[in-house]
Amino acid sequence: MNATRWDVLLTGARLATFAEDAPFGLIDDGALAIAGDRIAWVGRRTELDTVDHPSAVETIDLGGALVTPGLIDCHTHLVFGGQRAREFDMRLHGASYETIARAGGGIVSTVTATRAASEDELLASASARARALLADGVTTLEIKSGYGLTLDDERKMLRVARRLGEELGITVRTSFLGLHTVPPEFRERRAAYLAEVCDHWLPALAEAGLIDAVDAFCERIAFTAEETRRLFERATALNLPVKLHAEQLSDQGGAALVAEFGGLSADHLEHLDEAGIEAMASAGTVAVLLPGAFYALRETKLPPVDGLRAAGVPLAVATDCNPGTSPLLSLRLAAGMACTLFRLTPEEALRGITVHAARALRLVDRGTLAAGQRADLAVWNVREPAELCYWIGGTLLRQRWVGGRRAG
Ligand code: NIG
Ligand code: FE
Repeated sequence: MNATRWDVLLTGARLATFAEDAPFGLIDDGALAIAGDRIAWVGRRTELDTVDHPSAVETIDLGGALVTPGLIDCHTHLVFGGQRAREFDMRLHGASYETIARAGGGIVSTVTATRAASEDELLASASARARALLADGVTTLEIKSGYGLTLDDERKMLRVARRLGEELGITVRTSFLGLHTVPPEFRERRAAYLAEVCDHWLPALAEAGLIDAVDAFCERIAFTAEETRRLFERATALNLPVKLHAEQLSDQGGAALVAEFGGLSADHLEHLDEAGIEAMASAGTVAVLLPGAFYALRETKLPPVDGLRAAGVPLAVATDCNPGTSPLLSLRLAAGMACTLFRLTPEEALRGITVHAARALRLVDRGTLAAGQRADLAVWNVREPAELCYWIGGTLLRQRWVGGRRAG
């Protein structure tokens, strides 16, 4: 107990700690102390009488409300221009995501809209979407570039992501996704595009401090495993961690590739095979499941959850919020969909949006309720942790705490 005073003591809390050895790490009739931006103490309220502790400036009785770590959305494309409701309509009339992409729609149509938007316009639209995620308990967000696809437009997107973190007072981790698709002006010059991204944009944007991790879309409509490898070699030389959109529409061996580079995560994974699972398990690469994209594309091939579970691969869940395949603005709903569509247990799904999501972003200071962790909390109007996955929609969040302060 290092703090000389506690700023806040929360009592009457059902603490889903994801740290204790109980389902959900649950502590009933719990208490949680905050000093500065950190959690100073966590335990049963009755234990407080048996330990020496500083007095608290303020004590708040939560009346039995559930408290979880602040939620962490570890895969989003939150910054973009326009929307793609027309493609939604086209898919409902029978067109596939791949057909639309090959006909110049898909990612490229959002690239056009994103290039046309100013930094302030992108900030305003992304901010509205981010606020929806925050209203459902999020306190940490990952945001990818990948809709600019020129050096200036990728820089613009990453700057917006950084500004969003400042404006909303939350942590935003950025991922550079220059290899999202080949932009139209390079269509006949793939090799030149790859060289541009790997040899010029990546080092320049890294130098500007705009990149926390490097991502790519490894897929038959995007980039091959060999092209992705070249990017990962450059990223590794710059000391940047890598992650990958892997095995979403087909098996390209992407998960094994990102694992070979000690990657943070392989994301999507519907077409993942046994070799990919083993590679991820030995590298400690997190599997990020994205049920929003599965749902919106009316996908039928399920990610191999049983195999991942059996191999001990940590499972995270994220919204993949993007205008094409997952216009999803609730991480809690993503967790619920991971249960209903992918058969995760509510505990697995909730670990997937807290402790395992933190791991996918290599953030060791959050994702559980434990002394020394950042005091990022969500206080809910429900008592059972599983209710967070069970209710579809509705306003369940009562309070959000970020870095030890009430944030909403
Ligand atoms: O994660 N798979 C690639 N990227 C996005 C989709 C982007 C888009 O269609 O605009 C995804 O699903
Ligand atoms: Fe994505």
